[in-house]
Amino acid sequence: MNSHRAGVVCGTGRAHGKAILLGEHTVVHGTPAIAFPLPTLAVHAVAQPGGSGASTGVPQAGRQFRFVAGADRVPDDPSSGPRVAVEEALRRWEIRERVEVVLDCDLPPARGLGSSAACAGAAVRAVADLYDRTVGTAALYELVQCGEQFAHGRASGVDASTALATGPIWFHAGTARPLAVGLDAALVIADTGAASATQPAVAAVREQLARDPQGAQRILHHAEELIESAAADLAAGLAAPLGRTLLEFQDLLRELGVSTPEIDALVTAALHAGAYGAKLTGAGRGGCVLALTEPGSAAARVSAALRRAGAVQTWIVPTHGMPS
Ligand code: PMV
Repeated sequence: MNSHRAGVVCGTGRAHGKAILLGEHTVVHGTPAIAFPLPTLAVHAVAQPGGSGASTGVPQAGRQFRFVAGADRVPDDPSSGPRVAVEEALRRWEIRERVEVVLDCDLPPARGLGSSAACAGAAVRAVADLYDRTVGTAALYELVQCGEQFAHGRASGVDASTALATGPIWFHAGTARPLAVGLDAALVIADTGAASATQPAVAAVREQLARDPQGAQRILHHAEELIESAAADLAAGLAAPLGRTLLEFQDLLRELGVSTPEIDALVTAALHAGAYGAKLTGAGRGGCVLALTEPGSAAARVSAALRRAGAVQTWIVPTHGMPS
């Protein structure tokens, strides 16, 4: 329901970040992926008619990001994924008005936590709210994907799906379904502090797989087995085997060339501090590491160890209690 701020009608929207448990990169080549929403790492958007001036940079954690979309928008203003998604929404809804969107983002950008999809999802929801449009999940997903394709090239859609999901998902070939989780554990996410650029990382993996078709088949088949066994362990609440699966997937990602010495150091630190397993999450070559731990004090211990080992920020996310 849209509301008024200082006498001006405005719409609001929200979306959140994501952590890929397993399947980054291989999902681009046909395997499934398992991803968790990060409801506490949210993006809030406010949309109102009109607006002038250029966009204010790119989305940044803890900072406002503003852009203007629609008819007669500011010429030469650089596009971003969220703005492309809103432009497409306005076109589909035949709204010929200029709209200003202001985003407040809790998520650090370019860390593999899905900030661009979350910004696009929140922005489109705010514009839909402003114009009293009801947008179903499938239509919203398509719009966010327009922004993702602009920002990342051929995005698999796992980020867009999880930014809009309320619980863990099994994502395969463009379709998401809720995933049963019977595991009472924690995901500790640690930011290496280094930017992770999705498009070049995806392009490098694609080249590597194309150079060695046999190797590619082996890696993708093994990835699929790991992802399936992880889903079974999640449902059955088996943390120790799931942790080992994360480590095996990290080996595959290292083979694909997207790990770094900083990521490897954080994985080792998490294991020394008692984590069941750990791996990079997202596109890699920077970005974040995800560790699976017992909940409570064990998670806090792993989080502290990750900070001592160089993580610039950590978050603890329970695997339990999210709707599936
Ligand atoms: O953009 P990121 O870092 O959140 O990761 C996207 C996941 C990839 O599998 C690397 C790309 C994709 O489109 O699925």
